[in-house]
Amino acid sequence: MTASIHLPRRLLIGGGAGAELGSVLSSLECRRALVVTDTYLYDSGVVDRVLGSLGSGIEAVVFADTVPDPTDDCVEAAADVLRSGDFDCVVGLGGGSPMDTAKAAAILAASGGRMRDYRTPRLTDTPGLPIIAIPTTAGSGSECTRFTVVTDTETNDKMLCAGLAFLPVAALVDYRLTLTMPPRLSADAGVDALTHAIEAYVSRRANPFADSLALPAMRTIYANVRRVYEDPDNHDARSAMMLAATQAGMAFSNSSVALIHGMSRPIGAHFHLAHGLSNAMLLPVVTEFSVDGAPDRYATCARVLGVASDDDSDAAACFALVTALTRLNEDLEVPNPQACGIPAAEWSALTSLMAEQALASGSPANNPRIPSAPEIEQLYTDVFAK
Ligand SMILES: [Fe+2]
Repeated sequence: MTASIHLPRRLLIGGGAGAELGSVLSSLECRRALVVTDTYLYDSGVVDRVLGSLGSGIEAVVFADTVPDPTDDCVEAAADVLRSGDFDCVVGLGGGSPMDTAKAAAILAASGGRMRDYRTPRLTDTPGLPIIAIPTTAGSGSECTRFTVVTDTETNDKMLCAGLAFLPVAALVDYRLTLTMPPRLSADAGVDALTHAIEAYVSRRANPFADSLALPAMRTIYANVRRVYEDPDNHDARSAMMLAATQAGMAFSNSSVALIHGMSRPIGAHFHLAHGLSNAMLLPVVTEFSVDGAPDRYATCARVLGVASDDDSDAAACFALVTALTRLNEDLEVPNPQACGIPAAEWSALTSLMAEQALASGSPANNPRIPSAPEIEQLYTDVFAK
């Protein structure tokens, strides 16, 4: 099988990379950028810090109205600004939501229509304006993926949109921008990245290139996510997490995510939980369900994380993996849906629709064990009771 690999044209990785924005824009011959970000990053001075590196001759206009779990309304507002301003590039600065908004707006402004026109299974390869991504969380990996996720406000569906058009041309990966992330956000983003690495490795679309990024990424994230949760100012841990999150993003962009992400998006759409948090809730339960589909791959995950050895059987290693992921949630104080204030009746009333939406995204079809709709409903029920 031939694997088709796609990466940003330029990746700048390391402390201070964010200050290279001016030189990167110059190298791309960009002179007028729309910077898509959020109010927190704007008010806290991060935007000014990054834009301070722009030399003369480069103009930047800030769109700071992005929302968590970007909606089609928000993307359309950003696209309107883009169309009306003679811009030659889009900078996505922030966590997954601002970066995804920037990516989606760049395509919508260039190609028109509504965001729902771009949902999977459609693949959008025709690029819009060049996209430059600057992550401020170690999580989504959106800076180097060919995906964006946007919520349809009419159907409350978190739509996966895919294609080369969504892949940034350049990414500035600067761990220093993550130092102010609070512990909860650090943990949620870290578990999102861990899920990317594990799902990329066990996916039916896995390939040796993606494996070579997924395995070190999962090892590094598992070794460091507790450290950034407990000690947010730990530069070594932050730096390790940032690189690993980007590696995990490259891994799943060139393989895929699977059942956990398929089930996580509907939870986010209906209950507005942070993406990494809903992933964390699902991770042990869905892994336990899935291990029989690829016991050798899951056993390798366990050995790479250091929770099983070569002497352990694959079955023992898979068991150790599920145990380790459960313990990680305990250590990171991941609440269950009930503790997040979700009423049981509301959850159970939506499990059938959420299962349907999960399957429609296509992600469960990449899972080592492909679930039926009733099996997904049962997994939602199991997660609530955890
Ligand atoms: Fe994710």
